[in-house]
Amino acid sequence: MISLMVNGEAKQVDVDPAMPLLWVLRDELGLTGSKFGCGSGLCGACTVHLDGKAIRGCVTPVAAAQDKEVTTIEGLDPEGNHPVQKAWREINVPQCGYCQSGQIMSAAALLADNPRPNSEQIINGMAGNICRCGTYQRIYAAIELAATEG
Ligand code: FES
Ligand code: FES
Repeated sequence: MISLMVNGEAKQVDVDPAMPLLWVLRDELGLTGSKFGCGSGLCGACTVHLDGKAIRGCVTPVAAAQDKEVTTIEGLDPEGNHPVQKAWREINVPQCGYCQSGQIMSAAALLADNPRPNSEQIINGMAGNICRCGTYQRIYAAIELAATEG
C-alpha cells in the first residue's frame, strides 16, 4: 500500500510501487486532468507538482511520491482561480486543450520559483512542454500577465 497526499487529501493506493504516478492519478484516483502524451518524459502533458516542483507523472514511479505532496490541475486552486488559470482565460490560451493542464502546472511551478521571469526564463522554463497546436505565443503572454498580476 502506498500513501500519498493528493491535492491536500490523504490517499492510499494498492498498486505496484513502480507504476507511473500518472497511471495512479488517472486510473486509481480518477483525476483525469493530467494527460498521457508521449509516456517518455518528453512532452509535458502529464506535468503535476511533487512538493511544489513540476515533474512528469508518466516517468515518475508512484513510490517516489510516497508521503509527498502531489498537486494536480484539479487541486491547483479550489475555484480554478490560480493567477495562471485566470491569465489563461484572459488570454484565451487553449486550442484543442490536450497539453494545457501540463502547461499550466509548469507555468505555476515556474512562477512559484521565479515570480518575475524575463522572456528567456519563460521560454527556458516552458521548453519541456510541447503544444501540437502551437499556442506558445499565448502561453508566454499569459505567463507574463500572471507574473504582473500574481
Ligand atoms: S506524457 Fe509525460 S512527458 Fe509526455
Ligand atoms: S492546445 Fe492542442 S496540444 Fe496544446
